This record gives sequence, C-alpha cells and structure tokens, in this order.
Amino acid sequence: MAVEEVIIEHPWIYTLGVMMMPILVGSLVFLAYYFYEKNTRSYILASKIPGPPPIPIFGNAHMVLGFQNAEIFKMAIKLAEIYGEGNIARIFFGNKVVVGLMHPDDIEIILNSNVHLEKSEEYRFFKPWLGDGLLISSGDKWRNHRRIIAPAFHQNVLKTFVNIFNSNSRAVVDRMTKESGKEFDVHEYMSEVTVDILLETAMGTARSTQNHDGFEYAMAVMKMCDIIHQRHYKIDLRYDPLFYFTRTKKEQEKHLGTIHGLTTKVFQDKKKNFAKHVQDGYTPKPSFDEIINNKNSFIPTSPTKGLRDDLDEQDENDVGEKRRLAFLDLMIETAYSGSNLSDTEIKEEVDTIMFEGHDTTAAGSSFCLCLLAIHKDIQEKVYQEQKAIFGNSDRFATFADTVEMKYLERVILESLRLYPPVPIIARRVNEDVKLVSGDYTIPKGATVVIGTFLVHRRADVYPNPTVFDPDNFLPERTQNRHYYSFIPFSAGPRSCVGRKFAMLKLKVLLSTIIRNFHLKSNLTEKDFQLQGDIILKRADGFRLEMEPRKKSTSVK
Ligand code: HEM
Repeated sequence: MAVEEVIIEHPWIYTLGVMMMPILVGSLVFLAYYFYEKNTRSYILASKIPGPPPIPIFGNAHMVLGFQNAEIFKMAIKLAEIYGEGNIARIFFGNKVVVGLMHPDDIEIILNSNVHLEKSEEYRFFKPWLGDGLLISSGDKWRNHRRIIAPAFHQNVLKTFVNIFNSNSRAVVDRMTKESGKEFDVHEYMSEVTVDILLETAMGTARSTQNHDGFEYAMAVMKMCDIIHQRHYKIDLRYDPLFYFTRTKKEQEKHLGTIHGLTTKVFQDKKKNFAKHVQDGYTPKPSFDEIINNKNSFIPTSPTKGLRDDLDEQDENDVGEKRRLAFLDLMIETAYSGSNLSDTEIKEEVDTIMFEGHDTTAAGSSFCLCLLAIHKDIQEKVYQEQKAIFGNSDRFATFADTVEMKYLERVILESLRLYPPVPIIARRVNEDVKLVSGDYTIPKGATVVIGTFLVHRRADVYPNPTVFDPDNFLPERTQNRHYYSFIPFSAGPRSCVGRKFAMLKLKVLLSTIIRNFHLKSNLTEKDFQLQGDIILKRADGFRLEMEPRKKSTSVK
C-alpha cells in the first residue's frame, strides 16, 4: 500500500515563531540573570565604589577588547585617574568585582592583614609554570614554606654572595663593552646577568656549568609574562577550555619547555651531588641554624616608621663561615633531614625563586641605568660617591663598601618608586573590607588590586611626584612618611623574601657598571612606553648608550 505523503503547510507567522523561540528564551534567561546579578550583595556594594558603568554580562571587559599589553597599562592608569580620584576605583570583569586601591591607609588594611593573604584568582595562570610555589600558594603550605625559605635570604648568607655578585657584574661589564658608543637595549644584559647570579648564589650552581642557557631562560620568562598578562584580559585566553585550543597555548608549552628544562637540570644536579656527599659520609658544617643564629645578626627597626632598609644596619663582622649555604642546599637538606618536602615542592620553589629573583631585578637595574643616563647630574653624584669609596682602584666591592653607598641606595629606591618592577599586587579578600579613605566596602570574594605604581606617585606624599629625585629618600624625608606609601617589595606578612638580596645585588651590579661606564641618552622619561605585563617594562626597549671610563688599576 502506498504511503500518502502529508505536507502540512504552516502559516508564516508560525514559522517565524519557531525561529524566534530560542532567541526569546535566551533573552529571558539573560535578563533574569542580569537582574539576579544586579541584586546580589556583592554587586550592590561594588556599585557604590566609583568606576565606569558596566554593561550586562561583560561588565567592563568590553573596554579592553583588542587592546595590546602596553595599552592596557595606560588604560588602567586613566581609569584610576578619572574615577578613583587617586584613592579607589572599581571595574567589573564579567561578574567579577575588581577594586583598585591607591590610598596608603587602605593598602595597609590589606597588606598588613593575616586574613587577606590569599592571592587573587588571576594568579592561577602561573600554575603551569610555578605550580604551588611560594608566590601563589596559600594557607599552611605557604606558611610552612615561607618559614623554610626566608632564612635562605638572611643577611649572613647574603654576605657570602658578595664576591659572586662582583664577578658576575664584572663579566657583564666585559660583555657590554662591545656596545660602546651605540644605542642598545640594556635589559637583555641585565636579564642574563641576574639569572647567572641566581644560579650561582641561590641555586649554588658552579660557574663552569653555566653557558648561554641563562639568556634563553630569561627570554622565555619574558614571553611567559606576556602570555600570562594577556590571559588576564583576553576573554578567549582567560578561560581554560578556550585557551586549550589556541596558538598561545602551544607557545606557552614551548617557553615552559625552556624554563623547566633549566630548572629541572639545576635541581637534579644538585640533588645528585647531595646524595653523593651523604654517601661519602660528609656532614655539612656549619649547619644552617649556626649560620643564621650567629651573634652578629641584625635587629630590624620598627616596620611602621619611615623607610626601612635594614641593609644599613647590618653588623659588618661575620662568622666567616667557609660554607656557602644557598636556598637550594637548604631545601634539599631540609627534605633530607625528615621534613615533609617532596621533590615536586622543591622544584616548584626553584621555579618561583628563579622567576621572582631575576625578572624583577633585571627590570629594576635597567630602569635605574636608563634614569642615570638621562639625569647626568645624578649620575655624576653616584660616580663621585664611588670614587670616594674606591679611589682609582677597580677592586671588588666588599659588604662594608655597599653600606657606604648611601647615595646609590637612594637612587635605587627612587628608581623603584617611579618605576616599581611589580606595578600591581592582587589579593582575594576573604571577608568584606571597610575602607578608611572613603565610605566604601569591598565585598567578600572580590579581587583587590594594589596600585603600587600609582601610590608611589601621590602628590600628597611626594612633592613633585613625577620628578626623579633621590633625595626623596633622605632620612629626614622618609621618617614621617606613611610606610605603605612606598611598597616596591610589597609589605606585611606576604612581602618579598628577596628584598635584601635584591638591594645588595643591585648595589654591587650598578656600582660596577657606573665605575666602568659613562651612561648617555638623548631621551627623556616622557619617551618611556611603559608596559605592565606582570613586571613593569619599557615596551620601546631599555635604550641607552655607554662609553667606557678611563681604566683604573685592577685589584681584586
Ligand atoms: C627589585 C627586585 C624585587 C622586587 C621589586 C620584588 C617585589 C616583590 C613583590 C612586590 C612581591 C609581592 C608580590 C605579590 O604579592 O604578588 C614579591 C614577592 C616575592 N619575591 Fe620579590 N622582588 C624583588 C626581588 C626578589 C628576589 C631577588 C627574590 C629571590 C631571590 C624574590 C623572591 C620573592 C618571593 C619568593 C616572593 C613571594 C613571597 C610570598 O608570597 O611569601 N624577590 N616580590
């Protein structure tokens, strides 16, 4: 029997209705979600904080669509100026509340707290690289690891590194000589030397095993920072399921290969060495406790008054320990002596220290050199101070010499003020935070972004805030300044563990360069194109010129 085909003719209005249905349902869901969100406590509290008006679903994320890294930095500063009145500004990234703080009193509430210690959700982009290392870990794990790691940067350990700082500084001066008389980007040299220094000090790697790996590592780190920064603000890169299919993910794999290649080798070699020593019956002496508990240890001054750079207050006498106990030695020994430290955990801390310890100081030293090249009168004062310390000799600097470098220290601090290598710090607030600077409450769960770059340029704290003036760090000026108005190394319980390492290294490195080269530049600071991709950089390159100074007698 033939089946009769039945064709039902729908009126056009019916067809249109069927087609529109998903759009209608979608719109209703969207509206319901929008109204729900607008009535959440978090949204209501955040809406009271000054900031650009959000649009549904996107919040303010649409404002940065198609932006490049350098433009994002400019945009953030503009937003803070327009809405924040220099104190506070809010944006919504989708439904995520992000609040920028620029007032020292508000910053103190966050950084000085033992509650808001957790890093913001955005730090998860570091995970494939740093795992659960000190920079991003939280809770007991962070507390335990910080307790183990911090002593590795104790003053008495740092003093034993001074000659390594010297020899590496001398080596980079030799390498840079070929650039004499022409404009070049000093950042690449600073990156390589800071990696080499870390390998030889914190990681305790013998110099002979180093090669050009340090440079490749530093370049891979720079590219990783760029990728992580893009993941902060590009929707397709932000969400893991989308990111997984992008070309950027493949690039990430490549750079991580270079980075982890080096750090894995460093860790494995060191571990093998340690195992051999143990097998040969060698017991390390003096113990780490003996080194850091020596009677000449310093007592820090009050952390809440003025500038605190305790390098000045160190006792020059040392126990004269024969053994250099570096961070990695300490980690391996601690694990060996029964602490609960796995190989993966040690490796994650190696990655963390290698990153935090090099990129920050590479940017810090590069900015400082560019500023000295521009401000020739200040460069001359630095040079005269060096002459007063070293005379005509180009001997290595001692720890005692670095204590005498008062003017250079002020120059470094002023450079860190104007161009802080870590331009923002982000935290997740675990409870509502009532602010001091205005009648605002940051809702629990929000991301707080501390605008180091902006708080360092507050006109009510620094007269002529954008002028490079090392005298901003004269004791009489720092004495009564709000402690949280100068936070290049962050502050409070989660501050930088490498602060003293960084200051000592910067002094030796910059002293060696200034004693050997005259720095020049035709640019002004207005020409700097700042880019804040995790670490503050010059998108236009750290360009300057160097001329060798007249050679003096070489005495080590
Ligand atoms: C000029 C150089 C440096 C600057 C400006 C700097 C700045 C900072 C800042 C602002 C933080 C807090 C980051 C945050 O909360 O997101 C930090 C954390 C940290 N820094 Fe540095 N740093 C420098 C050098 C170093 C060095 C040389 C090392 C080690 C050798 C180091 C190791 C660390 C570590 C491990 C942390 C994480 C601490 C924790 O969360 O407990 N830093 N640094």
